[in-house]
Formats: sequence, structure tokens, C-alpha cells
Amino acid sequence: MRIFLIGFMGSGKTTAGKQLASRLSYRYFDLDEFIEQQEQDSIRKIFEKKGEPYFRKKESKYLRDISHYEDCVISTGGGAPCFFDNMDYMNNTGITVYLKMKPEQLVSRLKDGREERPLIKNKDDQELLQFIRDKLSERETYYSKAHMIVDGFNLNINELLDKIRAFLKQ
Ligand code: S3P
Repeated sequence: MRIFLIGFMGSGKTTAGKQLASRLSYRYFDLDEFIEQQEQDSIRKIFEKKGEPYFRKKESKYLRDISHYEDCVISTGGGAPCFFDNMDYMNNTGITVYLKMKPEQLVSRLKDGREERPLIKNKDDQELLQFIRDKLSERETYYSKAHMIVDGFNLNINELLDKIRAFLKQ
């Protein structure tokens, strides 16, 4: 089994992914980290030096490379489901879980981590909230195709595990 965690930047995909993997004794992968290892550069630098279109192509390629592993949990970057046919690909090769959060909740999580995230790097608090509102409504179309949608703000790993098990029994 392969579990993909999707959702906006700051929705807790990495934390939840690590917890889930350890509870299931699965391997854990972070797609952004995998990209950084393969490209030998940080996401911030890849955006700066080569631009977003290059990053999106690589993201799609490495998503496929990483998905060859069995029994793993994969946290994906916030934009990953929204480019090429990545969302359909994930739905066809594993279980997708969307960690859903409201724009105001995301602002509180993203305020302090702006530097490392190229898309929000230069935004003040007001611009950040507006950006999240706009981007989230644009991306919701893709995110909502997930097999499971859970509350990312009050996430309970035990409940999520129960939901995944129930889904597998269906
Ligand atoms: C992005 C989210 C980031 C990273 C890149 C672009 C996005 O991942 O892939 O900065 O388009 O939302 P996180 O969601 O892990 O921050």
C-alpha cells in the first residue's frame, strides 16, 4: 500500500506523514526532500535559478520515481497535485489523503516559514492571507479529488489510521 498526503503548504503533511509511516512501519518519503537530494539543490534555489516550470517538470518526474516503492507514505509539495496529471496518477497508484485547512489557519502556520518557500517569500501578512485564499480556491479542484479528506488543523493520527483501514476494506 502507498499513501500520498496532499494539501496546501503548512497543512502539516510532513509531520502527519512521519507519524503515519512510523505507526504502519512503512517507509517515509518527502517529495520536496527527494527533489532536493536528486537535484543537489534547495527548492528555493531551484526556483531562483531555473524557474517554476522546470521545478514542476522535475516534481512530476520524481513523484513517479518515488512511487515505485511499495508500502510507503509520501508527503507531497502543496502544488504537486495541481500540475500535469499528477493527481490522477496518485489516485491510481495509492490512497490519497487531503489535509484540509482554512486560509486563516494556514496563515498562522506559514507566518514564520516564509523564507524557505519561494511562492510566499516576499509577502507581508495581508498579502499572505490573500494569496492563500486565491491559491487555495484554485487548487481545491485538484485537492478535492482525494480519496479521503480530513481536518488538517485538528488531525488525529489514530482516527486517520482507522479511516484508512476502513477505506481499504470497502
Ligand atoms: C509549493 C509547496 C512547497 C514546495 C514548493 C512549491 C506549492 O511544498 O513544493 O515551494 O506550490 O505550494 P510544501 O507544501 O511542503 O511547503
